[in-house]
Amino acid sequence: MQGQVRIEHLTKIYRVRQRQGLFKAKETQVEALKGISLEIRPGEVFGLLGPNGAGKTTLIKILTTLLLPTSGEAWVNGYRLRQDDNLIRASVGCMLMGERGLYWKLTGRENLVFFGALYHLSPADRARRADEIIARLGLEDLADRTVETYSSGQKMKLAFAKALINDAPLLILDEPTNTLDLPSARELRAVVRELNQAGKTVIYTTHIMAEAEMMCDRVAILDRGEVLALGTVPELKASLGRDEVIRIEGVISSKASQAVQSLPGVTRATRAAVDGRTQLTVVARDQRALLPRLIETLTAHNAVVQKITPEEVTLEDVFIARTGRTLADDTRVK
Ligand SMILES: Nc1ncnc2c1ncn2[C@@H]1O[C@H](COP(=O)(O)OP(=O)(O)O)[C@@H](O)[C@H]1O
Ligand SMILES: [Mg+2]
Repeated sequence: MQGQVRIEHLTKIYRVRQRQGLFKAKETQVEALKGISLEIRPGEVFGLLGPNGAGKTTLIKILTTLLLPTSGEAWVNGYRLRQDDNLIRASVGCMLMGERGLYWKLTGRENLVFFGALYHLSPADRARRADEIIARLGLEDLADRTVETYSSGQKMKLAFAKALINDAPLLILDEPTNTLDLPSARELRAVVRELNQAGKTVIYTTHIMAEAEMMCDRVAILDRGEVLALGTVPELKASLGRDEVIRIEGVISSKASQAVQSLPGVTRATRAAVDGRTQLTVVARDQRALLPRLIETLTAHNAVVQKITPEEVTLEDVFIARTGRTLADDTRVK
């Protein structure tokens, strides 16, 4: 099968009128997407990671037919953008940041039933589906209150619930944990993982590096309208070609150290005395793969391990290496 989503040379230029005094206005252009091409595979959680202003929301709005691209093509669930927009909308569950599209005078449950009707679910199916989602997301306490009484985090949860109403094979989530407290964010990520395991493809947008690492099978790092890098998290990290470091403290003989040195994947193992204890510094290519064997080897040589500090390369390091900036920088054109 083709990719679940295929994007070819998508560009988006916003035209913005800027006031200049009372009678004059100047038109400026913001190039939000500069020719994006990528493919999202069935069954994966695909991450779009980038700082504010990178173009994530623009891309998502185009894929969900809310915004027209300036040029380029895209296919979503096999349907062609601008040709089969109704079919695209019916086959996607979408949660957009900012624009939550909830009806404040309706209760949470009424909102879900209403959106179920838009997707042509029968009255019985809408009610059943709403019940299921409310139970799954633990929204029982909120479900029968009007949305205007919700906190921003609670609105966010309902917006997520709404994305599930049509049971679509593709979920598109734009910074879904943005205003959630930590336990709610964790809960939402767990639900997304479960849905993915049950077969749904997910596009997950975030500016938080750790979240992309936790959630995504593959990640596209987006910056100023361009894809800087694309791959699995380990691939992206390996692309830095940087060695990783593990520091181990305890009682470690030189024999144990030598055994570690000769493990495949170890570039260097250096043993030094620190405050009467031994510190072993292991430089390796892929510490995640190495760690179990490392501990096994040390234990086999009667070492006493008191502390292990892996110093990991992060996706943030990848971003910094490519741009010289951090993900926290706001690159939005104002
Ligand atoms: N409606 C709009 N009109 C003009 N410029 C916009 C509009 N929406 C977004 N932009 C600009 O497009 C760029 C990408 O924005 P956006 O897609 O929201 O990025 P992200 O979601 O990654 O933060 C930014 O420079 C932003 O200022
Ligand atoms: Mg955004």
